[in-house]
Amino acid sequence: MDYIGIDLGTSAVKLLLMQGDGRILKTVSREYPIRFPRPGWAEQDPQDWYQETVAGLRELLEGQDKSQVAGISFGGQMHGLVALDGEDQVIRPAILWNDGRTAAESDYLNQEVGREVLSRHTANISFPGFTAPKLLWMKKQEPENFARICKIMLPKDYLAYRLSGVHCTDVSDASGTLLFDVEHRCWSKEMCAICGVQEAWLPKVYESYEAVGCLKPEVAAELGLPGHTVIAAGAGDNAAAAVGTGTVGDGACNISLGTSGTVFISSKTFGTDRRNALHAFGHADGAYHLMGCMLSAASCNRWWMEEVLGTEDYAGEQGAVSKLGENHVFFLPYLMGERSPHNDPDARGTFIGLTMDTTRADMTQAVLEGVAFALRDSLEAAKSLGIRVERTKVCGGGAKSPLWRKILANVLNLEVDVPEQEEGPSLGGAMLAAVACGEYASVEEAAQKIVRTAAAIAPEPALAAAYEKRYQQFREIYPACKELFQKLRQ
Ligand code: XUL
Repeated sequence: MDYIGIDLGTSAVKLLLMQGDGRILKTVSREYPIRFPRPGWAEQDPQDWYQETVAGLRELLEGQDKSQVAGISFGGQMHGLVALDGEDQVIRPAILWNDGRTAAESDYLNQEVGREVLSRHTANISFPGFTAPKLLWMKKQEPENFARICKIMLPKDYLAYRLSGVHCTDVSDASGTLLFDVEHRCWSKEMCAICGVQEAWLPKVYESYEAVGCLKPEVAAELGLPGHTVIAAGAGDNAAAAVGTGTVGDGACNISLGTSGTVFISSKTFGTDRRNALHAFGHADGAYHLMGCMLSAASCNRWWMEEVLGTEDYAGEQGAVSKLGENHVFFLPYLMGERSPHNDPDARGTFIGLTMDTTRADMTQAVLEGVAFALRDSLEAAKSLGIRVERTKVCGGGAKSPLWRKILANVLNLEVDVPEQEEGPSLGGAMLAAVACGEYASVEEAAQKIVRTAAAIAPEPALAAAYEKRYQQFREIYPACKELFQKLRQ
């Protein structure tokens, strides 16, 4: 049988059709707009997600044997708040994971409610991008909208709802709401009370690989798919990407270089980061993970290339880069503020160290290096917990660049495995659907049978040593700018 994975990303929805044995038959991608109504805010229209997903499904299925499709599942951008009224209408545009408007609400949760209480109930502290502070913001700033709420859900769950009619979510995505008891895999009554959230608004929680229902008959008819096509809960995009790169079980690491940048470490047992630099979330394989998340990763490169340099010739620009390990220019990649490890919505992107002989290529290199250094910050947070990471997988749009992969391997001083299929979250989504339909007994089995490594990049001792020195310098820049960023807040 065949399975469809839908990755509801921030810049586009990516769809993938997979045969039961893991072979990819076709992929399709469709973009939608993101709006930044104020600096540091980010919104999208859930209708756009659904419209482009349905159009994408049509395109994906064109020329394929639709009768073979047994299941559909998802990976989705995490934390976004989708609120529906009593008529199932979207109340306001979704507030996204990289939106920093809730600094005051997040501070209230961390300081007044207290980090210790939050950690006890959810295993995490608050970050402005999480869902609970968004609800507090809505309650205060848009009380008329808040009063209309009948259902809340995460971005991919809106797709599942429109496709199946089931109000559901999964453990990995629920973990990022700050309303969820991660250790016990259920909603936290205490957090609902703290945030004024009625439990009836919340979706039913499933494991990522569980079936929640079937395609609605009218949607199945519209798409020409079998009426019994299973919809599986799916996962947050990082957990789905981890499945798609085989990052399951104990102690495996995946780095995603997408719009966001994440360092994801899977674990069979529940554990937290006592300093809360890393999130402690449920994993799509039925267990747990720790994750550091930077808000702008490949998006920094896209901004630099397309908005600033005005080119789409990524390979051409990177071809001119020649000073690995020796660049005197540094870039802080905090274009949307930063989550891990600084938790600072006021942080901003910064070039530092420019001189008269700085070239365009040096600045391109600094952007790629700045993202790698910031990912190293999360890796260091994991190491400080005694977690030993010896190699990592890499996925996401940025991982297509051989130069960026080499920089990453040497900045992190880790072997970097490049999977054969770079479609992390959409492949992970299709694999979750396959498990839900019984094609594989577990997510781990699916990963073992489907995921293959195409290449491994080893760090080069001299280059890694040069980057070690640069990383120690990079670490000093943010603390030196921190107060200034606050003063410059608009
Ligand atoms: C993870 C996070 C991002 C989004 C990107 O906590 O906020 O990685 O999921 O889509």
